[in-house]
Amino acid sequence: MQVIVNGRTRQYRTVEFDTKRNRVLLIEQRLLPHTFKRIETQDFAATARAIRDMVVRGAGAIGATAAYGLAQGARAFKRRSMPAFQKHVQRVFEALRNARPTAVDPVNAMLEVRRKMAAGNTIEAQQEIALAAAQAFADDNVEDCRAIGKHGAALIRDGMNILTHCNAGWLAFVDIGSATAPIYTAQAQDRKFHVYCDETRPRCQGATLTAWELAQQRVPHHVIADNAAGHLFQRGQIQIVIVGSDRTLGRTGEVANKIGTYAKAVLAHRHRVPFYVAIPLSTIDWNLKSGAAIPIEERDETEVLGAWGADSRGARRYVRVANPGSHAKNPGFDVTPAELITGIITPKGIFKPAELWDNRHQLGFTGR
Ligand code: MRU
Repeated sequence: MQVIVNGRTRQYRTVEFDTKRNRVLLIEQRLLPHTFKRIETQDFAATARAIRDMVVRGAGAIGATAAYGLAQGARAFKRRSMPAFQKHVQRVFEALRNARPTAVDPVNAMLEVRRKMAAGNTIEAQQEIALAAAQAFADDNVEDCRAIGKHGAALIRDGMNILTHCNAGWLAFVDIGSATAPIYTAQAQDRKFHVYCDETRPRCQGATLTAWELAQQRVPHHVIADNAAGHLFQRGQIQIVIVGSDRTLGRTGEVANKIGTYAKAVLAHRHRVPFYVAIPLSTIDWNLKSGAAIPIEERDETEVLGAWGADSRGARRYVRVANPGSHAKNPGFDVTPAELITGIITPKGIFKPAELWDNRHQLGFTGR
């Protein structure tokens, strides 16, 4: 995506790889929108920490980061024993997988890299394949988002107000984004509309990241407090909802996404407003049989008890908001049932949640 940094327009992907130095390049998302800075991770353990600590976040972006991290870890192996190499790769895989549990993209991305690596007969061959496979995952992610934009743009008509939740924009992917892809394509087709970004407490990805992206792309928008959506629905001021997902169950059509998504789906249903979920194919989990089995990340209570921002000098600061001595519960995600979802916008077209399984082969299912 093009970003204006210090008055200069530059093209960036959210996640890139420095082949010569074996480093993953990431945008330090915790500093946005106040500071735009890129960082690099020196080894797979640092890459896993960057995922865990949300330097990089968003299902597609952590998928690509994990794929590159696996290649980074594999390429750092210097010994000659194949069994030791395989043990090492398993250790790298587990470190990256365990960094964040809810999104399925990192697991799908790394399994794909490992499936391709198996074709290499030597350690060197597997190391080379690992990097090519991670690169292919990142490139496919961009193409998937482009196709989501093509299919989803037709849903956006002149004069609409669109509600989004969290950040499912280019920062949450390698480029373009999933929920934002139809928005950017409709904008390119010269349609006029407006976006409401849910603030998305506690980490405020809507107020900080989505609002920043939309401002960069000159999309008219307002940030709203998470509690304001009900009022806007009631007054007929929201015509469509488009969100992303961290894990969508191919067997049931249930959607795990940032905490608060379910409440918006209930409101949309109550007010007969269409509710869409935009996902690349790597977000589909074909194994789980129930949304109740999706691991929901419990995050540190400090996220709820306070807030981060920038002081007048631009330095990042945390302030305590809640009553001193009170504790908080902080589930990071929730699961929206299929009956509340109007459609799933995929790179292969728009499907009703119940249609995913029937179209599984077209949607990338490789099992039986
Ligand atoms: O905790 P985050 O910021 O990684 O959560 C991100 C979201 O929930 C996004 O909405 C989600 O990843 C779907 S779009 C990739």
